[in-house]
Amino acid sequence: MDDNIATASTISAKFYQDKSIFETTKDLIFARSWQFLGDLNELKAPGSVIPRTLLEGFLDEPILLTRNFDDELNCMANVCTHRGFKVIEKGGNERNLRCRYHGRKYTLNGKFESMPEFEKTENFPTESDNLPAINFRIWKNLIFVNLARGIDFDKLIVALDKRIGWLPIQDFTFTPSLSRDYLVRANWALYCDNYLEGFHIPYVHSSLNEALDYRGYTTELFELSNLQLGIADGAEETFELPQDSQDYGKNIAAYYFWVWTNMMFNFYPWGLSINIIEPIDVNRTKVRFLTYMWKSELYDKGAGSGLDRVEREDENVVELVQKGISSRFYNKGRFSPTQEQGVHQFHTLISRLMKNSI
Ligand code: FES
Ligand SMILES: [Fe+2]
Repeated sequence: MDDNIATASTISAKFYQDKSIFETTKDLIFARSWQFLGDLNELKAPGSVIPRTLLEGFLDEPILLTRNFDDELNCMANVCTHRGFKVIEKGGNERNLRCRYHGRKYTLNGKFESMPEFEKTENFPTESDNLPAINFRIWKNLIFVNLARGIDFDKLIVALDKRIGWLPIQDFTFTPSLSRDYLVRANWALYCDNYLEGFHIPYVHSSLNEALDYRGYTTELFELSNLQLGIADGAEETFELPQDSQDYGKNIAAYYFWVWTNMMFNFYPWGLSINIIEPIDVNRTKVRFLTYMWKSELYDKGAGSGLDRVEREDENVVELVQKGISSRFYNKGRFSPTQEQGVHQFHTLISRLMKNSI
């Protein structure tokens, strides 16, 4: 992959279609990535236990989040160290973790506690009888996990934190009735490619285009994230920015942050729409839209309105691209250096990861 956008070409069409390449992305890209897992409101009370499956249908990794009675948060593998049964099947409130297959017990920190019929087992228990701890981080009430210890979480979040850290994100409320999943018949990376440029807005999203000033639309790149800044056409439905914001004085309608690998944080004056792009198959993707409300009176106004319509418009073009790239006559394309910096950055990161060199 050429680092210079002016001379670079996109990644090969094969990446979006080849089943064996898709399989290798599980370990080379996703098992090393940070993934969004939800927010702390679900884990408020000591004794809270939440089982989750990381990237269901793809990585399928069973994970367990707990809050113990010392008020500490823990994240661990949800697989019994005895014979591999899922330790916790349903969320709730527990004093300890008990596997229902043969009764092995763990503390809420995942430490082995007891097991019937193991008195004669020698050199037991050892460290490996505890549930393996999983790397996790909390940012503003939002929970992120990483199965490996490669990528530094701070590098992922630093740009967001600096730019919109003033927003009271910990007070935003997850609103399930305004959240939903979409099934897109296209590769996950094609969906990201499309998100990463505003180039298509005037062509594909007529209503959104009316709310945004296309000329003012910019993309800024950071190490493992980027920001597309949506400037409003008028002064309405924009952020009231604090004076120390670097954007103070601008009519910002939306901050569109993309965070490696598959996370999008879209901030609007009403709150936050998180999009998580989950691969299912080489040509099928689940897109989760999670709505976090801040000022409900501003919901569905300005650039942050009609998100369902915008999503369907995006799905439509992305699904058509999935078909287009299977043509014998298409392999790669070139980039617009003024409009597709985000796509170029994404392709550069994919290429590096696939060579194991990030
Ligand atoms: S698998 Fe859990 S106790 Fe046997
Ligand atoms: Fe779009």
